[in-house]
Amino acid sequence: MNAPLSPLVRATGAPPIPAARAWAARYHGQAGPAIDLTQAVPGYPPHPDLLARLAEAAGTRAAAGYGDITGDAGLRAALADDLARRYGAAFGADDLAITAGCNLAFAMAMTAIAAPGDQVLLPAPWYFNHEMALRMQGVDAVALPCRAEAGFVPDPEEAGSLLTSATRAIVLVTPNNPTGAIYPPATIAAFAGLCRQRGLWLVLDETYRDFLPGDAPPHGLFADPGWGDHVIHLYSFSKAYCVPGHRVGAIAAGPALREQLAKVLDTMQICPPRAAQAALTWAVDGLRDWRDGNRAIMAARATAFAAAMAGVNSWRVDALGGYFAYLRLPDAAPDALRAAEHLAAERGLMGLPGPFFGPGQQRHIRLAFANAEADAIAAVPARLAGLWT
Ligand SMILES: Cc1ncc(COP(=O)(O)O)c(C=O)c1O
Repeated sequence: MNAPLSPLVRATGAPPIPAARAWAARYHGQAGPAIDLTQAVPGYPPHPDLLARLAEAAGTRAAAGYGDITGDAGLRAALADDLARRYGAAFGADDLAITAGCNLAFAMAMTAIAAPGDQVLLPAPWYFNHEMALRMQGVDAVALPCRAEAGFVPDPEEAGSLLTSATRAIVLVTPNNPTGAIYPPATIAAFAGLCRQRGLWLVLDETYRDFLPGDAPPHGLFADPGWGDHVIHLYSFSKAYCVPGHRVGAIAAGPALREQLAKVLDTMQICPPRAAQAALTWAVDGLRDWRDGNRAIMAARATAFAAAMAGVNSWRVDALGGYFAYLRLPDAAPDALRAAEHLAAERGLMGLPGPFFGPGQQRHIRLAFANAEADAIAAVPARLAGLWT
């Protein structure tokens, strides 16, 4: 007799990125070097001073020991100051918990707010790990469809019509993964208003906030002193500091949620990685200019990608921002899964097909241009040329 496996985990999709990379294993370089635009990783290295501090911190006895459940006070204070500057609002170290990455931040926040059988609204296309985390917890991900005509920005009114007595939260990712769409502050405010009025959580994953153009606050929610009653903010150090392997993220939340979250943090992570916290405590302020420089690099990549695609008639860039472009396939192309497989296996261009990001995405493909240098971006049109025109 077979030993049992969780039916919830069995019903969850396999990790998408290895599946897409497997297609590329069949590519033999006929169109030039493979261009991997599957994963949202910055294509440049971490700052050498950060690497040096990571190495130094990793060799200390302090970093080998357990730390505070909610993370080291120094990093929480540094991030609180960074948030205060970015959002023009008051933040204290106690508003924050440091987590072992933003994916775990999401899963732990959901554990604190939702139970099996509950529902959570996810704008679709969604970030696949959000849907996977919910499914594993027995929470239903309800798709809130986003449309190309609206720049893939979700509609708060439509969200209102999808709420039921089982809904616990609405999740927004801005700048978005997979579309790159940047949600206007007024839209985010409307979602917050809806959540406040209906007694729901608005979970805002702002992993890509450091790559927003301009210095205006991404939204004004934190100006409301009562934001913590209905807003949960998630952040990742992975992208802004180029340290995804060190697994550091954060949650900003109000006192009622934090009280319950402490149990989840203690059980699921005990403490976040210590050496990375020590190095990042310096980096938040110490690498401010470097972060700004990277924002400019990403903006230049976005511009270069849009310019390269302008000459490709049959493919439409439906949305672009942060790390991503979301492309509509030519009408004559097969569905997105087969199209992405063909591009990877025959043209050496690796992207993720829309269906990996939820329902209704059969005509789209995500290309993470953040990974690519200028020459790789310039080579994309040639990889698409003559296909399905
Ligand atoms: C929207 C979003 N949230 C979270 C993550 C994961 O962040 P972390 O590496 O901090 O777990 C990603 C990574 O791609 C992401 O795109």
